[in-house]
Amino acid sequence: MTNYLIEQGYRYGDFEAHNGLWRMTLDTDYDVLARMALVPRVLEARGLDATPKIQKRFMHSEFNAMVGILDIIFFDEINHVKIGNTWFHYLCKQRNIEPLSAFDKLVKKHIGNKLRGSFNIEARKLANFSKQELEYLERI
Ligand SMILES: [Fe+2]
Repeated sequence: MTNYLIEQGYRYGDFEAHNGLWRMTLDTDYDVLARMALVPRVLEARGLDATPKIQKRFMHSEFNAMVGILDIIFFDEINHVKIGNTWFHYLCKQRNIEPLSAFDKLVKKHIGNKLRGSFNIEARKLANFSKQELEYLERI
C-alpha cells in the first residue's frame, strides 16, 4: 500500500480519512472499553462495509491495482475487528456490563446519529459480531 501511494505521488496521512482512527483513539483515551467499542468495532468495521464498494469503483479505473491491495487490507481488517470484539466483550464481562447497551451508550456519546449502514453482514460475522449485535446495527 505504501509503495502504491508513493507511486501515485502521495504518502500515508495525506488524506483526511487517514486521520479518523487517530482522532477516535484520542477521544477514547479515558477508557479502554470505549476505545474497543469505537475504534475496531465502529471505525475499522466501517472499512469492512466500505471496501467491497470501493473495490468496485477501482476495478475498471486506472487504479485497478487497488483491488488486490484492498483484498489484503480487508482480510487484515477482519482480524483487527475480531480482536476488538474479543477485548470489548472481555471488558464488559469483567465489569459486569451488558455489552449491547454499553455499546449503544458509547455510540450515542461519540458518534451520535452518524452511524449508518449499509453494513457488510458477512464480513462482520467473520469478525465475530453476534446475531444480536448485527440486529442492533440493522435497526439503526
Ligand atoms: Fe485495522
